[in-house]
This record gives sequence, structure tokens and C-alpha cells, in this order.
Amino acid sequence: MRIRILGSSAGGGFPQWNCGCENCRGVREGTIQASPRTQESVCISADGQDWFLIQASPEIRQQIESFSSLHPRNLRHSPIQAIVLTNGDLDHCLGLLSLRESYPLVVYATERVQQGFVEGNSLYRTLQRFSNQITWRSLTLDHETSLAGVNGKPSGLTIEAMAVPGQPPLHLRGQLSENPEDNVGLKIRDPSKGHSFLYLPSVKQISPEVSQWLCSADCVFFDGTFWSENELSAVDSKGKRAQDMAHIPIGGKDGSLSLLATLQIPRRIFIHVNNTNPILRTDSLERQRVEDAGWSVAYDGMEFEL
Ligand code: MLT
Ligand code: MN
Ligand code: ZN
Repeated sequence: MRIRILGSSAGGGFPQWNCGCENCRGVREGTIQASPRTQESVCISADGQDWFLIQASPEIRQQIESFSSLHPRNLRHSPIQAIVLTNGDLDHCLGLLSLRESYPLVVYATERVQQGFVEGNSLYRTLQRFSNQITWRSLTLDHETSLAGVNGKPSGLTIEAMAVPGQPPLHLRGQLSENPEDNVGLKIRDPSKGHSFLYLPSVKQISPEVSQWLCSADCVFFDGTFWSENELSAVDSKGKRAQDMAHIPIGGKDGSLSLLATLQIPRRIFIHVNNTNPILRTDSLERQRVEDAGWSVAYDGMEFEL
């Protein structure tokens, strides 16, 4: 299975339009060792022909253009067979509204995430220009199913979702109570080769179920939003703590690096990295610590075969 990272940053991207933090300023001015990143999205393919997107980021158009395997091969065509959403955050689903040029879309999400996107959203009508413009396929927790494209075309891959501690999206907070289907992690498997990877870009805490999941896979993408609990308050006096935003920090004694120190998964990648995070700088001490522990930091254009 081929995996390509289209976007590796958290909401806002890197640099973020309204941010003058050391990282954002430095990457704009070219004075730090770091490269710009678009908002998190990954695409996968078992055969190199049909592709499946995880997340529909606000930068989806630019991300599709950045990777020739996703370009049309006909007058009206897209190699994108389906899109999978892990939650309803805008950095994960706003891009759906950009794919409105009358082409059938298949979207995998929990019913809860579908509801959050569809209900009370008049912009959603732009994806209802003809019947079956959008086909929702429900992800049921803890149930492995085949990942299929338009008209049920098989991908050769399977998908399974698990509840991961998180929150409803910001714009729905206060309107919906929390629900295990708000935020999921994914396991994508190629049964013919026996390869699999885990995808957990938003993790509030490492629950026993998450730990259990992390026992076996060939690769894991994990929440790399923040290095420390108070990182945002350094740039914004109203900035929330990492925990309040449902992201476990990487550093510290209760951080993911320490809690996952004995992880056996050979390829470990932090993704959904916020622009304030010091691991973005290739020469930072924090980056060194992450790499010394056998982790890498996702970047746009990173590609590998499992
Ligand atoms: C998050 O990852 O916590 C959200 O994307 C925040 C947001 O929606 O701004
Ligand atoms: Mn986010
Ligand atoms: Zn910034």
C-alpha cells in the first residue's frame, strides 16, 4: 500500500494567516529550519491507480494539484474513490465543500460526524446538485469493513474505526453532548500483504482501548499537535490548554512520547502538528528528542510504501 502525506499541520496550517509566533514568522522570512505545511490530509492506494483520502482539508485543491497521481485522467475524472473523516473539525471536512463541481463523492464517517456536517448546514446543498452526488458510508465503531470506492469498487483495503477520547467540533460545542462517535482513530489494512497502519490525529488521552490498538501495526500516525500543555498561551492570552482542546501533548512526563516509549510499531509519525510546536524546527531540542525516540515528523509530500 502506498501512503502519501498531502498535509501535515493542524488547523490553521503553517504559517497560520494571523500568527506572528516565532515559528510562523521564521518560516515566512526563511530564518528558521522548517518548511511550510498545509492542513492534515493523507492519501492511500493499494494499486497506485485508485486513491482514498483521509480528511478533506481546507487546502484540498492545492493538495490534489501537488500530487500528480490525484489528477484527472479524462475530461471529467478523479482518481479519488472515497474520502474518510475522523471527526467533524473544520480542518478535516471543510474541503468537502470545495469538491462541488458535480462529481460523485463517497464519504466514510460515523453517523455522528455526518449529522454534524449535514444538519442545519445550508452550504451542504452545494453537494446535492444531483441525486447521489454524495454517498455517505457509515463507520461503525470496532467493525472492520472493506474500503470501497464509487459504485462499490473494491480497493483491496479494509477500514476499521475505534472511538478515541476527543470532543465534538468547536462549532458544535455546547449544542451536542459528547459522544464516542465524535472522534475516531482508523486502522487501514491490506489483507493480501498483511500490512496495516493506524491513524490517530486527535487524541485527548491514551485510553486503555487506544493502548490496546497501539499493540500491533506496521505504522502509526499520532496526534502531534502540541509539544506542551501551555504552548498556545505563549502566543495568545486566551489560548487554551492542550487538554482543553482534546490533544495530548508530546512532551512532559504525561506526554505521548513518554507514555508510548515502549511502543513496538516500527514506523511512528507525528501528524497534525500545530504551527507553535517546536518539533517543526529540524534543529530544535524537541525535534531531537522525538527523533531519538524513533519518531518522525510528518511533512507535506512525505511518501512511502507499506
Ligand atoms: C482541533 O484540532 O482541535 C481543531 O481543529 C481546532 C479547530 O477546529 O480550530
Ligand atoms: Mn485540528
Ligand atoms: Zn504561529
